[in-house]
Amino acid sequence: MSPNAFIQRWFRAEIAIGIAAILFVGLLIWTPPHFYAWIKAAHVIAIMSWMAGMLYLPRLFVYHCEAEVGSKQSETFKLMERRLLRAIINPAMAVSWVTGLWLATEAGFFRSGWLHGKLVLVVLLSGAHGFFSRWVREFSQDRNTRSQKFYRMVNEVPTVLMIGIVILVIVKPF
Ligand code: HEM
Repeated sequence: MSPNAFIQRWFRAEIAIGIAAILFVGLLIWTPPHFYAWIKAAHVIAIMSWMAGMLYLPRLFVYHCEAEVGSKQSETFKLMERRLLRAIINPAMAVSWVTGLWLATEAGFFRSGWLHGKLVLVVLLSGAHGFFSRWVREFSQDRNTRSQKFYRMVNEVPTVLMIGIVILVIVKPF
């Protein structure tokens, strides 16, 4: 990666973190009636968008592996992957974190075991998100070296994490 591209990416990440922090603090200060339920609704909507993208992107990688480098099909997959990541997956993850942390703060869940378990799984999910971003970049530069089988296996990771996360937050077993 060139130094310019690195600085640009770092700058974008700083802006995103800044906006998320401002939103989070703003939500802590401004809390009208029934606000908790509204934020929970926003949380579930954001989670659905994040998960939809996280389940679809590895499928695109599987099909992209079959496309010849430089072909029209390969260029179409690049566009689809980049748009899915930038327009849906990245913003949905940011909204999920901001609303989730606000809900936990507001309801005083930070001492609950189920939330600790959920946070471990959500951090793993965010790590998977990081790897997906890296692979979108590698595909966009025609530098993918991984097999179709690898992406088929990776495809199951978000599903398994999602099942654990939903059980922890709904059943609250501990
Ligand atoms: C990003 C970090 C996250 C944090 C800090 C967080 C935290 C929370 C909190 C505190 C609640 C409210 C629970 C309640 O009122 O009983 C909640 C609700 C919920 N979360 Fe998350 N969450 C996060 C991400 C996720 C993810 C990744 C998923 C699913 C894959 C998820 C699924 C849900 C669902 C389905 C509910 C609604 C539960 C209900 O109706 O009681 N959350 N979350």
